[in-house]
Amino acid sequence: MTESAANTHAEGIGSAAEPTRRDFIFIATSATAAVGVAAVAWPLIDQMNPAADTLALASTEIGLDAIELGQESTVLWRGKPVFIRHRTPEEIALAKRDDSLSASMRDPALDADRIRQANGDAGKEEWLVLQASCTHLGCVPTFAAGDYGGWFCPCHGSHYDTAGRIRRGPAPLNLLLAPYVFLSDTVIKIG
Ligand code: FES
Repeated sequence: MTESAANTHAEGIGSAAEPTRRDFIFIATSATAAVGVAAVAWPLIDQMNPAADTLALASTEIGLDAIELGQESTVLWRGKPVFIRHRTPEEIALAKRDDSLSASMRDPALDADRIRQANGDAGKEEWLVLQASCTHLGCVPTFAAGDYGGWFCPCHGSHYDTAGRIRRGPAPLNLLLAPYVFLSDTVIKIG
């Protein structure tokens, strides 16, 4: 074997059997980079886990006793506002009247069907629990400010009726019913 062939052979053995200094620097750099990526990724991954207080509010129980006829209470559920409306006979009659007149609706739904969907066997058409978020771009509407006796969103002028149905303005859909059940005649659980 010539001297150069012997050197080449020796280098070949060295690179396969034991890391050279250059290999060591590369390995050390890769390990540091991996630790760095993990260190950066952990806060992001950790952030994606629900906070303890968020989990604690996944459902909330509300007593209805304090909400007088014709009044509304706004509660927070999962960090978002929810309307609990104690409807008067006049508000209910208004919603039913428009149903009987087959009034034009953008997102057609009978008041009785919304109540049945929301309250199930409990009935109780005087209670309406809605997500307080305009279906246009999410502003919070206010009650008794629109043209249909229900809610009005001042951001771009959406009018909802006393069943929370969209009647005029840019909002495409009715106010969404909140997910809730009656635990008793006077207590509901949202979520
Ligand atoms: S957000 Fe309510 S009308 Fe635009």
